[in-house]
Amino acid sequence: MKHLLKLSDLTPEEITEILNLADQLKYESKNGIEHHRLKGKKLGMIFQKSSTRTRVSFEAGMYDLGGTALFLSSNDLQIGRGEPVQDTARVLSRYLDGIMIRTYKQSEVEDLAKYGSIPIINGLTDYCHPCQVLADLMTIREYKGVIAGNKLCYVGDGNNMANSLIVGCIKMGMAVSIACPENYKPDADIMKWAAENGDFVCTTDVLAAAKDADVLYTDVWASMGQEGEAAERKKIFAGYQINSDVMAVAKPDAMVMHCLPAHRGEEIAEDVLEAHANDIFDEAENRLHAQKAVLCMVMA
Ligand code: CP
Ligand code: NVA
Repeated sequence: MKHLLKLSDLTPEEITEILNLADQLKYESKNGIEHHRLKGKKLGMIFQKSSTRTRVSFEAGMYDLGGTALFLSSNDLQIGRGEPVQDTARVLSRYLDGIMIRTYKQSEVEDLAKYGSIPIINGLTDYCHPCQVLADLMTIREYKGVIAGNKLCYVGDGNNMANSLIVGCIKMGMAVSIACPENYKPDADIMKWAAENGDFVCTTDVLAAAKDADVLYTDVWASMGQEGEAAERKKIFAGYQINSDVMAVAKPDAMVMHCLPAHRGEEIAEDVLEAHANDIFDEAENRLHAQKAVLCMVMA
C-alpha cells in the first residue's frame, strides 16, 4: 500500500491487514508497550478545513510511533495563496516522509500523490473520509466480533461519510442501507458499484432503512464548506434523525455511531447519543489506532 487516497483503492485483504495491525497497536499502547515503528519519520499535516479528531489523533499517533508531525494550516502555507498543489507536493517530498491532507477537492489529494514522491493520506475531502471508516470498521469488529454479515444503516446526508461507509462496508461484506432526502444521495458511481457488488439500498424512508440494522450511523446535515446552506438543510433534513423511533425498528443490540462533531437534536437525538456514548467515543478513540496502522503501512 503506497497511499491512502480513498477506500476503493484498497482490497478487502489490505483493509483487514490495517485493522489487524490497528488492534495490535491498540493492545500494545494499552499495555505500555512502546512501538517506535516510525522512529525519526516526519509527517506533514495540511489542513484546509477545521479538525479536532483528525489533527490530534495523527499528531499523537506519530509521537507514539517515534516520529513527529507538523501542523500545516492552509492559512499559513503558500497553497492558501495559490501555489499549485503539484509544486507543493514536489517541495514537501524533499522535507518529509509523508503527508496527511484535509481539503475540499478529491483531485487535490490525488494530485499530491501524482506529483509528490512520498505517501499521501486523505484526512477528508468533500468526496470521502477513508481514515474515519477504517476506525469505524475496527469499532464494528470490536463490538460485533465480525464485520461481514452485519447491516449498517446510515441516516442523513449522502456526503463524504456516506460515500466511504458504502465502499468500506460493502467491501467487507456488510449490508448497507442509506436513508437520505431525494436530492442528497451519495455519489452515483459509488451507489452503482455497491448495488452491483453487495447488498445495498438507498431510500428516503428512514424506518424502512433502519429495520433490523446492527449499526446505525449518522453525520451532520451541513458539512464543512456548506455553512451557507445550513438553514435550508435544517428544513430539508428534518426527520433524518437517529432517535428512539429509529432505534425501535433496529436490532435490540444495535450500536450507534457518529464520526463527530455531533449536533444534538438535529441528526441525532440527545438521549440516543448519551445512551450510546461508549460506542461513539470508542469509535473516536479508534481513529488513533487505525491511523497509526495506516501510517505504519505506508511509511514504515
Ligand atoms: N470525525 C472527524 O474527522 O473529526 P474532525 O473533523 O474533528 O477531525
Ligand atoms: N461530513 C462532515 C464530516 C466531518 C468529520 C464534514 O465534511 O464536515
